Formats: sequence, structure tokens, C-alpha cells
Amino acid sequence: MGMDVSEIQTFEHQVLVVGAGGAGLRAAIECSALGLNTGVLSKSLLGKAHTVMAEGGMAAALGNVSAKDSWKVHFRDTMRGGKFLNVWRMAELHAKQAPARVRELEEWGAVFDRTKDGLINQRNFGGHRHPRLAHTGDRTGLELIRTLQDHGVHQGIHFHMECTALSLLKDGERIAGVAAYWRDTGRFVLFRAPAVILATGGAGKAWKVTSNSWEYTGDGYAMAYEAGAELMDLEFTQFHPTGMVWPPSVRGTLVTEGVRGEGGILRNGKGERFMFHYIPEKFAAETADSEREAAEWLEGKPGARRPPELLTRDVVARAIKAEVDAGRGSPNGGVFLDIASQRTAEFIRRKLPSMYHQFKELAEVNITREPMQVGPTLHYCMGGIRVDAESQMTRVPGLFACGEAGAGMHGANRLGGNSLSDLIVFGKLAGAGARKYLDGLSATPRADDEQIKAAFRRATAPLNRDAGENPYLVHEELTRLMGQHVGIVRERQELSRGLEELQALKQRVKNVKAEGASQYNPGWHEALSLESLVICSEAVALAAHLREESRGAHTRVDFENERPEWLKYNIVISRGPDGQPQVEKVERKPPPDYLRQIAEANVDELEAGKVAADAPED
Ligand code: FUM
Repeated sequence: MGMDVSEIQTFEHQVLVVGAGGAGLRAAIECSALGLNTGVLSKSLLGKAHTVMAEGGMAAALGNVSAKDSWKVHFRDTMRGGKFLNVWRMAELHAKQAPARVRELEEWGAVFDRTKDGLINQRNFGGHRHPRLAHTGDRTGLELIRTLQDHGVHQGIHFHMECTALSLLKDGERIAGVAAYWRDTGRFVLFRAPAVILATGGAGKAWKVTSNSWEYTGDGYAMAYEAGAELMDLEFTQFHPTGMVWPPSVRGTLVTEGVRGEGGILRNGKGERFMFHYIPEKFAAETADSEREAAEWLEGKPGARRPPELLTRDVVARAIKAEVDAGRGSPNGGVFLDIASQRTAEFIRRKLPSMYHQFKELAEVNITREPMQVGPTLHYCMGGIRVDAESQMTRVPGLFACGEAGAGMHGANRLGGNSLSDLIVFGKLAGAGARKYLDGLSATPRADDEQIKAAFRRATAPLNRDAGENPYLVHEELTRLMGQHVGIVRERQELSRGLEELQALKQRVKNVKAEGASQYNPGWHEALSLESLVICSEAVALAAHLREESRGAHTRVDFENERPEWLKYNIVISRGPDGQPQVEKVERKPPPDYLRQIAEANVDELEAGKVAADAPED
């Protein structure tokens, strides 16, 4: 008996936002405020998003703690952190608009920590020249989500929770909606919408040790790729330097950079403060090179240089790996992060309450008295879906992407804290982009029945096979492969090997078998997620193989340094006519002069207002 599309539960929205983290919620709020009938699809429950794993704060040049801060200095830091590979316009929009977005959150009820004068307090983070991170203790992402949810529920947004998107639907070239299923009943559901905003986060679950939770299987990247959009910069995967390493059940859980921002230091298994040995030439002028100088910074001495623990994440993660590889690790294969020796117990509990409880409850460690054991954990994908900087639209008309799902803002390495501000800046822009697109649309696109049936039939394939592999075991194999061949440090032969293994794994994914029926069936969910994960993993490995240099978070031991010729290109991957990934080096647009001047400026001159004084305001 054939499937009858008219019998499938159907919702109609003008815009459907897929993902209910910070970017998705902010996009939905904008769409709704602009008068659009807006739906939000969440694979999980509201409040359960990787946004909450940005604990330490959101970066915005409010200038509350350091009056010398400005959008220009923030922009310069972001470009330097991203090794100049960022999409210039995105980094500019972000730096300019982040302060307004943070103040807006405050108006909507976000409870930030305060300075003595009652202003939003700001803390230090790696790569930011000034204390710049607006924060709520070490639960900032949670506060952001709470605020956006509270604001959003009063705007008439329709939330569809525990509902997973399967594929994007199109009418010709244009987006026409999403095919999805309810995770509990397993029933299919159709969302007809002429605009879709992907805010689906990243693909951290392709690695074993990750701060990402089960939702982050690259669904947005994979759906966009299959619908004809491009993936960009996927070789840049961020390993946050400090994840928990012990006990094994919580390995990878994030330990906020806020610990180092508030004075925490790193020591190896021999008790040495090793980061002094890993200061890159480029950052030498601004980094303390002795314990004495670093102590002056901690005491707040004016002009003291920042400690090396606050170098950018790529540098700190590599340094930790090098110490562990050299046999100087902690007993459980990490290094020690120590704030107990630097700050009082009262200070630690006040500034880092979640870390205090996390270590006490999960590891039986009292961080006010003992050091933590930490090591790198896959945290974030700098790459993602290629979008237009202003509108966040992909090359597929009607398809938008923002937050971690989008590419370009962070270049080769994201600065901590730039993610929460990215979500609210580009979430809003995506909403505005969708409104503009819909205003120019003369007829509503409509997906045909055959396409819808094909999407649902494909989804039931793992259930309908007579036999096949266990999807959990295939997933485990994928994470082993990615850790071994496409990890924190890469090399051509390893990557080639990884790509070969991925080819074989792709075939295995096509043959996994989910036992049982579609109701309440986590094995089936796992089988479907695997399809997205292999698409993303292959794209990461292909891009990492092609980029023959080390830049930011992409480290090639066979090409140890940045190579200027590679600064000219982004690596863009799209689905070729044969259904296989097509990998291209795409030349980047040069920036306007004022942005180049700011990014390359002497910072003292920049802060004195002597550089690009005529830069336009947005
Ligand atoms: O360490 C952290 O709190 C994470 C922040 C971020 O990824 O932006």
C-alpha cells in the first residue's frame, strides 16, 4: 500500500527554525517580531542545547571594565585569533553589533554579574585583549537560553520539541520545508515552510572525547549539503583545552575557560607551569614570560602582561597534548588546572559555582583545595554551512544558517566567548534575512509528494532491513577513526588512511540495522544520526587533507607553519553531480582597506583612535 502524504501530520509556517539553542531562539524571536508565522523544531527539549556549554561568558566590547575596549579592538582580536581566515564582514558585524545584542538581553531580563558600579561585569578570556566577557558566574550560556526562552514564549512562536529533522524539501531550487519525525512515537511529520533557518549546532559527536551531547551529530550540515548548499572551512575543529579527564564516564565534559580567566594556572605532572614554554612568537610581546610577571597580572597591576594560560585555545590545547605525549601528564592522562593556589575558596565558589559542584559531584574533587585534571575535548566546529554575511542565506534560496551551523565568523580558530555573541548577532540577522527573502517571493514553493515519500522511505530503511550491523558499534568505530586519523594533530598519511577507512564505514552505515519498531527506538535514532555524521566526518577529513599548512586549530605535523598562499582560500565542499563530495579551493574576497588597517594595526595606536577613524558604522 502506498504512503498517502495527505495523511501525514502537517504544519505550515512562514519560517521554520531548526534548532532551539541560542542562535535558533534569537532567529525565531526576530522572525516573530517581524510578523512571520514562526515554528521552531528542537531535536531535544527546550533549554538543552550546546549553548549552555559556553559557560564563561559572551564577548562584547561594552567597555565596562576596560574603557579602552571598542569594536575595533574586538574585531582585531577576533581576526588574529582566527588567523585572518575569518570572513571579514562577519567579524566586523559581530564586533559592532555584539554590545547592542548583550544590552538587549539585559533588557529582556538576563541577570549578569555586576561591577561595583552596577554595570554588566566582564571577565578575561584567551585571546581577548581586554576583560570582555559579560557573564553570569559560569552559567552564562544557560542564562542566555533562559532569557531567550522567556522572551520567545510570549511572542507566539510555535515550538515543536523532541522532533528530528530528516531532510530539507525543495520546490525546484527553492526551499519548501522539512521532513521530520517525532522521537517518541516515531511518527513522521511534515513542515511546509518557504524559509528554513538551520541553527543545528555542530558535529562534535564524530569524536569520542567531546563537550557536545548526543544531539550534535551534524544534521544541519548534512541536510544543507544534500540540499545543494556548500560546506566551508570544516577542517577547523576546535579542541577546547580543558575538558574533564576523570572519571571516564564524564571524560570530555567542559571545564570553562573562565577558570583560567579568573586566574587558574596549568601545571604538568611534574608540577611545572609549562605554558611559559609554548608562547608563540606572534603573541610574545603581550604575554607574561615568568611566574613573577603572571602574578602581577593576577594582582591587577596596571600594564601587566597576560599569563600564557590565556593564549588562544589552539595554542593551549596543543601544549597540553605535547606535555601528555612527552610523558609529563597527570595520572589520568591530562594536566593539572589549579585555581586553589591562586584564589580564595570564597572567590572560587562565587565566580565558578558550577565548576565547584561539577568537580565535587562528578569527580570527588574540591577545586577550592585541589587541582583539577583536564585535557583537550572537541568543542566546536569553526566551519559549517557557507552563508552570505549580511543575510545568512546559503546558496539555496530560502535556506539560512546561523550560529555554529554557519561558517566564516571565526576563521581558523574561535576565541572563547565569541560564540554566544555570534549566536545572538547572527541569529537576529538570519531572522531579518528570512523576512527580506519572503518579502521578495512571488509564489509559495511547495514540495511534491514523491520527494516527501522518498525522505520518509529512506528514514525507515534501517528498520526495514532483515539484518545489519549495530549502529552503536559503527558510531564507536567512527569516533575511534576520527580521533586516530583526524584528531588534534594531523598528517597526510594519517588523513589518507582516515579517508580510506571512512569510505568503508560509509558502506557500513548504509547497512546498519535498527532492531524493533519506530516507537521509542534510540537504536533507530542512532542509525539516522550516523548518516549525518559520516557526511560531516568525510568533509572534515577531505578539507584537512587538502589544507597543507598549520593554521589555528588545524595542525599538520607535515606542514608545521602557516603558509601565506593558503590565506587566500577557503575550502568549500559541495555535493557533486555523482553524489560524491566535490572539494574546491575558493578564493576569498579581499577586505575593504579600513578593516585591514584595523586588523593589522598597532594596538596602542588603535586604542588611541589613530587608526581607521573614518570606519563606517553599521
Ligand atoms: O570555556 C567556556 O566557558 C566556553 C566558552 C565558549 O566556548 O565560548
